[in-house]
Amino acid sequence: MKKSSITKCLFPAAGYGTRFLPATKAMPKEMLPILTKPLIQYGVEEAMEAGIDTMAIITGRGKRAIEDHFDISYELEHQIKGSSKEHLLDDIRKIINKCTFTYTRQKEMKGLGDAILKGEVLIGDNPFAVVLADDLCVNLDGDGVLSQMIKIYEKYKCCIVAVMEVPKEETYKYGVVAGNEIEDSVMMVTDMVEKPDPSKAPSNLAIIGRYILTPDIFQTIRETPVGKNGELQITDALLRQAKKGMVLAYKFEGKRFDCGSVDGFVKATNYFYELDAIVNQ
Ligand code: G1P
Repeated sequence: MKKSSITKCLFPAAGYGTRFLPATKAMPKEMLPILTKPLIQYGVEEAMEAGIDTMAIITGRGKRAIEDHFDISYELEHQIKGSSKEHLLDDIRKIINKCTFTYTRQKEMKGLGDAILKGEVLIGDNPFAVVLADDLCVNLDGDGVLSQMIKIYEKYKCCIVAVMEVPKEETYKYGVVAGNEIEDSVMMVTDMVEKPDPSKAPSNLAIIGRYILTPDIFQTIRETPVGKNGELQITDALLRQAKKGMVLAYKFEGKRFDCGSVDGFVKATNYFYELDAIVNQ
């Protein structure tokens, strides 16, 4: 595994996944599969590709399947040993062997800012990455999105959010940023609004679920009042951070699927299915 200045990645995974009911009634939404791999495994693989080996997962009630997925299943392995199915566990076995998984529970859903704050106990005084597993990112032409962001972090040593252009009428679904370009695809953030009405959006640059955060963000979150929908928003905390110092927005290279919506989930499934067909030709 390559060495990285960021060794921990936080996965907020306590949400209910109401858009996928009834599928998510008894199953975590992060375990919904794109082909044969659960969503969260794609995120963990992206983090590993970026040199990260400690995965810190914020879970909640009904999320135990995530812990079991990233653990050895002796009975299953014993059962399929020597059969043609054995190789199907190769990838997950490698992940389990190389990474450490730590968990804590968010007892009440009080927003992404609160979920990230709950991760302080797992992250400590270190810069860290955040992956929202709903946002599935791929870059077939080069480094994964977290790898790209860590390179920028190594230069500027500040918080970074990944952004992409969205149609203006969709800004109400995202955190939206405005800023000044300081180098190709990198902007210094001057404004940031959580899920603005299109008429009030400062731009059409939407935050997608990849962040690099410095540990002082925990204190900033504590100082941030609740925002949109009565929840503690990481977007609001990052705007405070931008005003105190510097926050960057990075237009990443690659594709992003919104697997938190049925439409994006189906698109991702088709994309990976076709990719698989090409690879296995
Ligand atoms: C969260 C963030 C939002 C961001 C989005 C990316 O919203 O609050 O700023 O744009 O993730 O997926 P959620 O989709 O969890 O409501």
